[in-house]
Amino acid sequence: MNMMLRRLSRAATAGLVAAAALTAAAHSAEAADTLGSAAAGQGRYFGTAVAAGHLGEADYTATLDREFGSVTPENEMKWDATEPSRGTFTFTSADRIVDHAQSRGMDVRGHTLVWHSQLPSWVGTLGASDLRTAMKDHISGLMGHYKGEIHSWDVVNEAFQDGGSGARRSSPFQDKLGDGFIEEAFRAARAADPAAKLCYNDYNTDGVNAKSTAVYNMVKDFTSRGVPIDCVGFQSHFNSNSPVPSDYRQNLQRFADLGVDVQITELDIEGSGSAQAADYTKVVQACLAVERCTGMTVWGVTDKYSWRSGGTPLLFDGNYAEKPAYDAVRSALGGSGGPGEPGGPGEGTATCTAAYTRTADWNGGYNGEVTVTAGSEPIGSWTATVTLPARQSVSALWNGTAAFNGNVMTVRPSWNGALAAGASTTFGFTVTKNGSDAAPAVGACTAS
Ligand code: G3I
Repeated sequence: MNMMLRRLSRAATAGLVAAAALTAAAHSAEAADTLGSAAAGQGRYFGTAVAAGHLGEADYTATLDREFGSVTPENEMKWDATEPSRGTFTFTSADRIVDHAQSRGMDVRGHTLVWHSQLPSWVGTLGASDLRTAMKDHISGLMGHYKGEIHSWDVVNEAFQDGGSGARRSSPFQDKLGDGFIEEAFRAARAADPAAKLCYNDYNTDGVNAKSTAVYNMVKDFTSRGVPIDCVGFQSHFNSNSPVPSDYRQNLQRFADLGVDVQITELDIEGSGSAQAADYTKVVQACLAVERCTGMTVWGVTDKYSWRSGGTPLLFDGNYAEKPAYDAVRSALGGSGGPGEPGGPGEGTATCTAAYTRTADWNGGYNGEVTVTAGSEPIGSWTATVTLPARQSVSALWNGTAAFNGNVMTVRPSWNGALAAGASTTFGFTVTKNGSDAAPAVGACTAS
């Protein structure tokens, strides 16, 4: 499709988006939320990677169209797909995805402009000056074709090495152009489509570690020198060897504090059942707790077509049935199910339990910890009461917010309200004994 037609198609899309908004406003109390509508209610997008080759499969497309508000072409915008020989661009497969998305009012993420992988062999044969020109031509050719139509572009992907070195990864770009290639790519990208958000995207950067700190330092340098960068993508491919980091939210927040948006760009978590659901809940809660976390993308619609399908890492199984992880994500996004579905009317009452332990003790005080566990259904929030013995007082509280009525402390979640069925969270507090070593009493946990 040429650019003029692309623009017309975009205008038609605006109408569809407005219609979609009206539909959302007209939702009855009994209508089930989708991932996209629940995320939109939180001011976020919820997207998926899409492969053009599956768009002809009715169940695939029906699930995509019903649930998601944003798409990322899984392979179709990569260099080998779009410029297989120098100066010859092919957009057929990528156009198919973009056209489909626009016809349904979905946004599109661009993935990816400069990456060491899926790079046609001709790129690696160029000398430095030719390579610099080819890189800029690729950026302007690809971004120019979709100018004004892509909400965020992964401008540079995976430029840092794994491990503790914090070094850049070897690639034709790094080896021939040096560290400056990243900055040059971002400057070329801003010139090619000033409306697109420009992201740096990587994996194993989800928690605070040497690799994410190296990326952090680069982003800090860019923002301080006015190099155009708008967002950082955290791929978030998790499994038992690479679990959801406990400092995920803190890591997202430290990037956001640099003045860039953060996005979860390729989320998948290997596993099944309530454990997988609880991990997905953690990711969604982390994003919702960071104001500049603008959206999440899962790396595929169905386990059937995942790049690591053996690990069943996605929200829909191979038959497009909603998994417990699906319910958990929708519920963590504040969405509810339809009649009889999790979170929906007629579904039963959400429950939770609270269990207390003393985790530290010293002469003048102690630390207490309460574990809140959801019952057999996901919960959106919880409240627990802790009654303190006479004379004791609370001097600090974490992972919760407290209201006091005499010696009764009512604790509500700060960021950790939504729990998948059977999942737990904790809050903790420090008590000054004032001469009393008695244990506090933890009252009933109530869930909503
Ligand atoms: O389409 C051909 C098919 O015709 C051929 O018969 C077959 C033989 O191997 O290959 C097919 O292409 C494969 C393509 O996926 C489509 O399925 C490629 O071999 C395979 O290498 C390619 O894998 C992609 C991978 O990136 C390449 O690095 C995955 O689909 C894609 O999910 C994955 O995505 C990456 C992100 O771009 C960056 N972050 C990591 C992420 C996961 O690896």
